[in-house]
Amino acid sequence: MTDYAMEPLVQNAWYIAAWADEIDDEIVARRILGEDVVLFRDGSGKAAALEDRCCHRAVRLSLGQTCEAGIRCGYHGLVFNAAGICVDNPGEATNPDVFKVRAFKMVERQNMLWIWMGDQESADESLIVDFPYHDLDEWPTQYGRYEFAANYMFMIDNLMDLTHLGYVHGSTIGGDPEAHNKAELETKRTAGGAHFIRWMMNAPPPPSFVKAAGFKGNLDRWSDFEYVAPASVRQWGGGLDEGTGAHENRDQDGGLSLRILHHATPESDSSFHYFFSVSVKGIAVDSDAGKGFFSDILEAFLEDKVFIEAQQELATKNPDRPLIIRQHDKAVAYSRQALHQMLSEELKQAAE
Ligand code: FES
Ligand SMILES: [Fe+2]
Repeated sequence: MTDYAMEPLVQNAWYIAAWADEIDDEIVARRILGEDVVLFRDGSGKAAALEDRCCHRAVRLSLGQTCEAGIRCGYHGLVFNAAGICVDNPGEATNPDVFKVRAFKMVERQNMLWIWMGDQESADESLIVDFPYHDLDEWPTQYGRYEFAANYMFMIDNLMDLTHLGYVHGSTIGGDPEAHNKAELETKRTAGGAHFIRWMMNAPPPPSFVKAAGFKGNLDRWSDFEYVAPASVRQWGGGLDEGTGAHENRDQDGGLSLRILHHATPESDSSFHYFFSVSVKGIAVDSDAGKGFFSDILEAFLEDKVFIEAQQELATKNPDRPLIIRQHDKAVAYSRQALHQMLSEELKQAAE
């Protein structure tokens, strides 16, 4: 069975444009789905996303400054509000029909800024991926972002087949390759993606788990991953001392429980912004355990980057060579299937 390597980009979807605090003190310029976008807050604190191009003489608005009404172009001072309308044309009258730039819908929620790049009329807020842990005190959260030079679906493939953990992440979050290959695995297609849960029973804990939670013996360890097309993966991972009933109740006290949000916002068809947050139950962000665990995660994701960017290198060289799907890739195949469905619906709508 074969599968494709690079995938086209879905336009009509919500993507994380930035973590909310990235624009508290500065203007952010970011390319999303091939478009240069400027992200900022107006004087009232409202987050906004505009095309990063002044309509006057095509200068990047990100070279300007924020002001009460929105953003002021750094060249001749035109001011654009969050809707992209020019509200101040210094020394002259403005004409909102002509003096305007494209604005993109933006929703601030759970410390994330979600952007909709496609048809603005069809942006439906109920489709935004929910990740309540960012707002819950019992789940202290740390946030990260890496830039990857690869098609975004290589990231999703990586997350939906964890048999790489024992090989790529042996010294961090991985553990024994044999335990990973023998894990109990249950995989299903969901309405908008794919889900799997895998159990490694009576398995040695990976080094990062020992450092964070001080495990002395083997663990019953779970990895629960849900892909929500096109770009999100919600992860619930953790472990409890072997034989303490993890299967029946993963929420019990003790052990280690973590929630990770992974999100791959395409910058282009061969690069993406990898947003990730790590919420670890009951482990303070500034404690040694919290800092150590997050730095292991940062290291682990850089370990993935090497492999994912290496895939892109060969995909660029030989885009038509097929890949192979093996049995462990069931969730990868389901994820691609969910994405293909989304892409074909988008094509259908565009043709109507
Ligand atoms: S280019 Fe922006 S105000 Fe002139
Ligand atoms: Fe990985």
